[in-house]
Amino acid sequence: MTTALLPVALWTFVQNMRMSAYGESGRSRRGLESDILSNLPQKLIVETASKEINMSRFIFAAKVTELPDQAATCVEVEGQRIALFNLAGEFYAIDDDCTHEGGPLSDGLILGDEVECPWHGAHFNIKSGKVTLDPATDDVARYNVRVTGDDIEIEIEQYS
Ligand code: FES
Repeated sequence: MTTALLPVALWTFVQNMRMSAYGESGRSRRGLESDILSNLPQKLIVETASKEINMSRFIFAAKVTELPDQAATCVEVEGQRIALFNLAGEFYAIDDDCTHEGGPLSDGLILGDEVECPWHGAHFNIKSGKVTLDPATDDVARYNVRVTGDDIEIEIEQYS
């Protein structure tokens, strides 16, 4: 659409909205158009705000050789404390801070696919981050992990 046609298209759009919303009679044209025009930008602003640019990238976290089987370590990636686990050669990453009172999950006891918080015993699934035993009631975030050569990398989402 050329720039010259844009005002015509907008006017037609507003007229169509006015007709479908209010019909031909009833409220004054000025009031109707004012309502439509005052609501239209808000809707666009809300939609634009909810579509913030979401980029993610894999960031180096540790060397494969630094994390033996059935072990965990805390790594700090982009300012986030993340518990990194090795379960039978597969690596998993969840937030290190327990959702109960912040206990360090990387110091917890590994029980199969779960980790027990060292402070009050809440359990979290290492693969999903889901809480499985109280006193914690909220899940912890989980992160995608990949191995590139000898590097373990964690996918961190970034918003702008
Ligand atoms: S801090 Fe983890 S269970 Fe309380």
